[in-house]
Amino acid sequence: MEFGFSEEQLMIQDVARRIAQEKIAPSAEHHDRTGEFPLENIRTLGENGLMGIEVPAEYGGAGMDPVSYVLAMVEVAAADAAHSTIMSVNNSLFCNGILTHGTEEQKQKYVRAIAEGKEIGAFALTEPQSGSDATAMRCRAVKQADGSYVVNGKKSWITSGPVAKYIVLFAMTDPDKGARGITAFIVDTARAGFGRGKTEPKLGIRASATCEIEFADYVVQPDEVLGEEGHGFKIAMGVLDAGRIGIASQAIGIARAAYEATLEYVRERKAFGQPIGAFQMTQAKIADMKCKLDAATLLTLRAAWKKGRGERFSTEAAVAKLTASEAAMWIAHQAVQIHAGMGYSKEMPIERYFRDAKITEIYEGTSEIQRLVIARNETGLR
Ligand code: CAA
Ligand code: FAD
Repeated sequence: MEFGFSEEQLMIQDVARRIAQEKIAPSAEHHDRTGEFPLENIRTLGENGLMGIEVPAEYGGAGMDPVSYVLAMVEVAAADAAHSTIMSVNNSLFCNGILTHGTEEQKQKYVRAIAEGKEIGAFALTEPQSGSDATAMRCRAVKQADGSYVVNGKKSWITSGPVAKYIVLFAMTDPDKGARGITAFIVDTARAGFGRGKTEPKLGIRASATCEIEFADYVVQPDEVLGEEGHGFKIAMGVLDAGRIGIASQAIGIARAAYEATLEYVRERKAFGQPIGAFQMTQAKIADMKCKLDAATLLTLRAAWKKGRGERFSTEAAVAKLTASEAAMWIAHQAVQIHAGMGYSKEMPIERYFRDAKITEIYEGTSEIQRLVIARNETGLR
């Protein structure tokens, strides 16, 4: 059992912290208020290896381990959650999927630009009628005599959809086979037949652009199929196992920012002649915030550590995502309560933490879905 980090892990944490504090934190309020996509900051993260942390150097990444990914994500999310959403999709959902299941040509062609932050990637599973129940998708890819596929249908809530160059898409190739009839494809958004809807206005992570995308007779070539035909759902689930470690890290970053701001505030703000942090009721809140933050952090590092060892980590990732997202929501809620009027004001980032925390309980599988995954894996029942 080793609770320390390696020199390399501390180094990437330092790089992420420096960029987060010098570049991202100062513009976080602007990006939240305007919803402007933070392209320049994303490029800086990419130039420093943070858009492809686990991607080997030969494909343009930093070649680091999953624990490094957690440490870097936490730093970026603590400065601004929206940046960390874009970062997590490039890292975990796009690069990880192609690295694990792609051919050598696909890795060379698609991973480098995304890992270097020169282009943005996306991951399209959800549809208007199918979110949690992902196998109920209707987007169809019909195989042609020449081995290409013609895709028709819609995907909704696609993070970075408005700006993505490439998208990992999941579509039904054989509806009679259910989950085993789903295939993964790599889509180039510059090609005919691809369309984007309006950018969704959102409660939080406002600078992370989200939209519906549509396929109208979009043609996928045989060398753009990711993995084998019919294996798409397993690919999606495996990619999401890793993605959930990223969202847990994002939740920890938001929670840490809310907690640290609160610690400072309870020492300074006075009521009834003493710092509010001296009231026993405030102290109990601080203790509970600290316990939840530490539990979330340790469980997330455990999931990343297990992933790094090449072991199955579905349950650990779901435990981490569930614990960290609920901790973030609870901690941000307490932070608003302790800051009271100032917590409700846009003069401080506390209300932003509160709005940003909520998404971590929803995307990459809601809290109910994490509970379902954990309980199914534990009991063997469904
Ligand atoms: N790894 C590999 N394979 C897996 C797996 C995993 N973790 N989990 C399930 N599978 C396999 C099963 O073994 C099964 O294979 P067989 O057909 O060979 O038996 C197949 O997948 C189907 O599994 P289930 O029967 O368990 O499928 P289900 O329909 O009951 O659904 C679910 C399971 C866990 C609820 C799943 O649908 C799910 O995770 N839903 C949530 C969807 C989600 O997380 N969406 C996120 C979208 S991306 C996003 O949100 C990005 C962002 O915000 C930035
Ligand atoms: P539903 O599935 O309709 O669920 C509604 C409610 O029912 C939830 O509370 C849910 O937990 C509950 N429920 C459903 N099934 C069960 C069950 N079996 N047991 C108990 N309760 C259940 N998707 C992508 O593919 N790519 C993306 O990049 C992406 N980015 C997103 C970004 C944002 C900002 C948002 C909001 C969503 C994004 N999503 C993305 C979609 C996201 O993954 C889904 O919203 C999520 O999986 C939930 O699906 P849903 O919204 O359709 O809710």
